[in-house]
Parts: sequence; structure tokens; C-alpha cells
Amino acid sequence: MMNRWVAGSLCDVAYIMSHHPNIYSPPGTLIADRTVGELVAERPGRSRIFQAFGIDFCCQGGRTLREACERKNMALDAVIDQLEAELSAKPGPASNPAELPIDELARYIVETHHGFLRRELPRLRAMSERVASVHGGHTPSLVEMLRTFIGLEEEVTSHMMKEEQILFPAIIALSRGTVSPRPLDGPIACMIHEHEIVGEALAHLNKLSHRFQPPADACNTYRALFAGLHDLEEDLHRHIHLENAVLFPAAKALAGG
Ligand SMILES: [Fe+2]
Ligand SMILES: [Fe+2]
Repeated sequence: MMNRWVAGSLCDVAYIMSHHPNIYSPPGTLIADRTVGELVAERPGRSRIFQAFGIDFCCQGGRTLREACERKNMALDAVIDQLEAELSAKPGPASNPAELPIDELARYIVETHHGFLRRELPRLRAMSERVASVHGGHTPSLVEMLRTFIGLEEEVTSHMMKEEQILFPAIIALSRGTVSPRPLDGPIACMIHEHEIVGEALAHLNKLSHRFQPPADACNTYRALFAGLHDLEEDLHRHIHLENAVLFPAAKALAGG
């Protein structure tokens, strides 16, 4: 168990040495003896796991994983299991949601993409506020990013509610034949317009952050924020594509539009 992860591949180490020379463990170091700050720097997605376990990877990022677990009185192996799962958790192309029946596709979008947003938006809001307040004085673009993020969050939150409470139930009812066909052009056009507003906010965040590339000396929260915003952009792009290009045209066809 304890030998399964060591610091690792030469590529990882070379990357850390070139970008973060101050956070580097020698090759061969067990993961338990690497610092939590180093582990997040190497893969920012690990920040979610540490946050879930209550491990501080920013201000206390110099502690080794073993020390951090001992201080929190938690099982080291449980944390390592999660880190290992994250490493291999690439969603496989096993099924293509675009091929789902229309009612299942609507449910898939709510469970997968709306669920993702409800989990991520509060976490990203908290990190945006922290990064803007700590670093915004000398990097005003971070304050502009916070302002843009808040606008996006408000837009997306009310948008999801309209889809879940009005449009998607209407689409599901149509697909099951429980209501007679009626035009959905108006509500669908409204949703597509809101997608454009969200897309513009994402593009603005992308530009302000230089494609979500943090500066070389950025702290771990800064890095985790940029990685999280990058994931948000990717997920929203897939989400909006499924609605605009698959769900809404199918709904219009059912509605006789
Ligand atoms: Fe949606
Ligand atoms: Fe939408």
C-alpha cells in the first residue's frame, strides 16, 4: 500500500522543477512524504479532495500528506485512495449522451451538468473572492474576474431554474406524449440567448486569465481557482452544446416547430 505511489514520473518532476523550484521532492519520494502543496501544484484537481477532507493545501501546504492526515486524525490510506481515483478518473467515451432519448437527455443534463454547476459555483465563488482580496491590489484583472464570475453565477443559477422548472418538464411531457404539441420556440430562443450571455462571460474570464494560466509564483488557491474555472468552461461548453445542438432541435421537432 505505502509503496504504490512515489514522486514521480520524470515528467512531473521536471515540470515542478521548471515552474515551481521551491516545491519539489526528490524522485522516489513516497506520496505520503510529499507536501500537500506540491501535490496540488502537480494536479490542481486534487484540491477538491483535500477540501473535502478539510486539509489546508494553501497556508499549510508545506506539510507532508502524512503530517496533514495525522493532524486531522484521519486515515492516510483513505486520502491516498481518493487521490488514486482522481488520477484515473477520466470519463470514458463509453456512451454518448447525444444518443439518449430526449427525456433521458434532459435528465442527464440536469444530473450531470446542472449538478456540476451546483457543486462548483460556491467553491469557485469563495476562491475568487479570496484571490481577488489577497492579490487584486497588484493584479486588478483578478477583481474584474470576480465581478465577471459573479455575473456568470447569477445568470447560470436563474437559467438552470427556468430549465428545470419550466422548459425541461414541458420537453419531457412532449416526448412522452402526455401533452399535445405546442410551440416552444419562445422559451428555447430565450434559453439560447442566455447561453450567449454565459459564453461571453466565459470568454471574458478566459481572456482576463490568459487562458487560465496562473503566473509562475501564484499560490495554491490562485492555481486551484484557475484550474476550476478552466473545468467550468469545459463543462459549460459541453452542456450548452448538448442543449443548443441536440435537446432543443429535438424538442422543436416534437413541438411541431
Ligand atoms: Fe442547462
Ligand atoms: Fe441552458
